[in-house]
Amino acid sequence: MKPLSRRSALTLGGLGLASTVAGGAGLLWSQQTASPSATSSGFGAPSGDPLVQPPELRSADGRLKVRLDAAPGDVKISGRGATVLSYNGGVPGPTLRVQAGDTLNVSLHNGLNDPSNLHVHGLHVSPSDNGDNMFVTVKAGESFDYEYQLPPDHPPGVYWYHPHHHGFVADQVFGGLYGAIIVEDPTPIRATRERVLVISDITLDSLGRIPPVTPSEQMAGREGQLVLVNGQVNPVMTARPGERERWRIVNACVSRYLRLRLDGQELQLLGIDSGRFQTPGDVDEVVLLPGNRADLLVTAVSGTSIFQTLPYDRGGPNGMMGGMMGGGAGPSGQDAQSNPRGFSVATLTVSGDAMTALSAVPEQAVPPDLRSRPVTARRELTFGMGMGGMRGGSMMSFTINKEVFDADRTDTTVQADSIEEWTLTNTSQMDHPLHLHVWPMQLVEENGRAVELVVRQDVVNVPAGGRVKVRIAFDDFAGRTVYHCHILDHEDNGMMGVIEAK
Ligand code: C2O
Ligand code: CU
Ligand code: CU
Repeated sequence: MKPLSRRSALTLGGLGLASTVAGGAGLLWSQQTASPSATSSGFGAPSGDPLVQPPELRSADGRLKVRLDAAPGDVKISGRGATVLSYNGGVPGPTLRVQAGDTLNVSLHNGLNDPSNLHVHGLHVSPSDNGDNMFVTVKAGESFDYEYQLPPDHPPGVYWYHPHHHGFVADQVFGGLYGAIIVEDPTPIRATRERVLVISDITLDSLGRIPPVTPSEQMAGREGQLVLVNGQVNPVMTARPGERERWRIVNACVSRYLRLRLDGQELQLLGIDSGRFQTPGDVDEVVLLPGNRADLLVTAVSGTSIFQTLPYDRGGPNGMMGGMMGGGAGPSGQDAQSNPRGFSVATLTVSGDAMTALSAVPEQAVPPDLRSRPVTARRELTFGMGMGGMRGGSMMSFTINKEVFDADRTDTTVQADSIEEWTLTNTSQMDHPLHLHVWPMQLVEENGRAVELVVRQDVVNVPAGGRVKVRIAFDDFAGRTVYHCHILDHEDNGMMGVIEAK
């Protein structure tokens, strides 16, 4: 495997960056589309509070049993009351820690006013029955018992859970319904401490309520005016020089691409999604599409570093976003957390006596390179935007192969245990991050260029006007599930298809 280049911007094919463009395009255009009242709501004031970890629930004797209550409720953000949605009263919900081979039981209780359900994003588990079944509806006031059986060779790494009821996904995730899942390493990796960092975004008005989404925000894919980590605005972390921290990062934003930096510290990327590198590579920057996760090692260096997310230009419908970009923050005064160059997510302060360095990370097991395997079938998916079809109006519609989602139609039938190559073409002027359930993808080609880095990821970018190729091993499970754009507004408006493996 080709090693990651040393101290350079990470080029992970569909994850993003060919180079780090200084002063590049891609201002935070959501800030111009949002209601002016929200920009001065005051929720963005950094609190200086220490980063809080979500509660952790850990499996024992091969099983973890969890009850998740999804409900509206009040939380504190930047010390002020906000009315959001949460699992078990927290944003994010509890972190679920399991091991390969475990059984995870989740009893979901829907205390929302709308239908919901649960998805375990990235887990390689059965999509049938009471497994990771996308066709389950849990009506308001009802409950459902899920059981996920992780195979004994399930890849370690960072995963997450969130609602997945078509038509309600963006609202419910934006509202605060998400949590991390960690599949532990078969052989522990030494670190001084581990942090779970669930990054999300949200917009709150001056009363702490989430304003209704507008059709143009849905078209673009809504981006919140606040970027939260573990439900906090710019919290503080501290460490001593030489300490090695393990950061488990989840991009739980509905639409926002995260371009994460932590200048001044030493970063090594252990893996993305269910993909692991044999040896972690040094990186300066990690791009996470909506739904992606990073497993990152941070070796602390004296000083104060801002963990920030920089703007990312993901295009816009019909080029209209071009006109909205370049304005910078509104005159009403953006909250202190953000500026046209990005958002500070958290601050890391490193001081004190130096610790002795920990030993190098042992070689990690990596999945086979699917480029060396025979392809049994080829398929094309085309992502498009057209007029008509959006809920409640004749706005843009979002399609895959010219169809909007229909749960009763099976769009793609694949043979279990086969290896397919999919060509993903985007005819629209904005990027679409494609997510496939159950089976991770290996990006092999991007706009005609071969991708050498071997990594299994479950969300890949299909750039505006571009074309990428992925290979997929349909291992282990038969059943019906979905693939979709992980800009959840696009998914809710039809950019999703049904796949069946048999
Ligand atoms: Cu993260 Cu189909 O979802
Ligand atoms: Cu998923
Ligand atoms: Cu999309």
